Amino acid sequence: MRGESPDRRVLAPAAPRGDKGGVTDATSPEALKKRPRVFSGVQPTGTLTLGNYVGALRNWVQGQHDVDPIFCVVNDHAITVRIDPEELRRNTREVASVYLAVGLDPEHCILFVQSDVPEHTGLAWVLNSVTYYGELHRMTQFKDKTAKKQLEGVSAGLLNYPILMAADILLYDTDEVPVGEDQKQHVELCRDVAIRFNGLFGETFVVPKPVIPKIGARIMSLDDPTKKMAKSNPNPGSYILLTDPPDVIRKKLARAVTDSGTEIKAAADKPAIANLLTIASALSGKAIATLEDEYAGKMYGHLKKDLGELVAETLRPIQEKIATYMADPAQLEAILDRGAERARHIAGPTLARAKQRIGLGWRQSGR
Ligand code: AMP
Ligand code: TRP
Repeated sequence: MRGESPDRRVLAPAAPRGDKGGVTDATSPEALKKRPRVFSGVQPTGTLTLGNYVGALRNWVQGQHDVDPIFCVVNDHAITVRIDPEELRRNTREVASVYLAVGLDPEHCILFVQSDVPEHTGLAWVLNSVTYYGELHRMTQFKDKTAKKQLEGVSAGLLNYPILMAADILLYDTDEVPVGEDQKQHVELCRDVAIRFNGLFGETFVVPKPVIPKIGARIMSLDDPTKKMAKSNPNPGSYILLTDPPDVIRKKLARAVTDSGTEIKAAADKPAIANLLTIASALSGKAIATLEDEYAGKMYGHLKKDLGELVAETLRPIQEKIATYMADPAQLEAILDRGAERARHIAGPTLARAKQRIGLGWRQSGR
């Protein structure tokens, strides 16, 4: 970019919208009361992908100053599949670093690690009693994760996982849950559980709603546009990690599968090109139709090359900041300790309320 003239390239990163510009009073108690409470989280099961960024994190950052936001590193969820303890610890610090690096403001958002707030597992146990086995068994993610596996070797935690997720959300009187498409079903189960509990024991929980982005709710694998981009895929060429160096990003996009034909269009019979256009649109802020016009007459290779630059350029400052936070564990811990303390102030009374309603609060003194 030269001087102050606007960037004229077809694919340039969208201007960040996560800054506070003019809304610094958004954190006053009066302002916060009127804003919807938002809660979301990512599991520290590995380094995050571009799918996590486009489908979830980017939207959290963009909307943070219009809401009352709480973001959690959901490490209790991560132990539902086998994970090396040292790796889990490292990933937990890394995901927290990513939250900060993408621009979540720790002065405004509550940022914390799930296992630091025992109310999550506490409420999950209570909700276990009002959630049905059939509901859990029907969850698409559970079916996907257990496909081709002997149920004998599947942890009960994996089945009960959506209950813990419901507890995460309900503890904070959450109004909105910004997630990618794949989590919509879990948020809907959370709604059902909240409504059922309220019906059985009296108004206790706020019933939340999922917020799914219009663009990028489901970023697909680079090697197979019928599968979601996921860090669990054994082929590293299928995903872009937020920590991939620029040359790796360019290479992975250059090798991404494409569709037959040559036209750059997000059509139903062009799922691979539609996926690349979706990423391009999400990161550049340009509508897909605009990009289609701008790429009229150009080859797939042009789009892939520009997209490689765009993704690398978008991730570069994020990567620098991830490294800074990872190198300063004391700072990271201080932020997360403070977040956990703030979270417990909200979660504690909600769990007490739920236990009171269901009869676990047993003292006649009402304590
Ligand atoms: P997970 O990595 O499963 O903990 O997902 C964290 C968040 O990223 C959730 O809101 C997911 O819906 C979202 N997410 C994960 N993969 C994708 C993807 N391929 N496209 C869009 N969103 C995604
Ligand atoms: N299950 C979510 C996922 O895999 C992560 C998650 C756990 C979550 N608890 C949550 C997301 C509460 C939103 C709200 O992506």
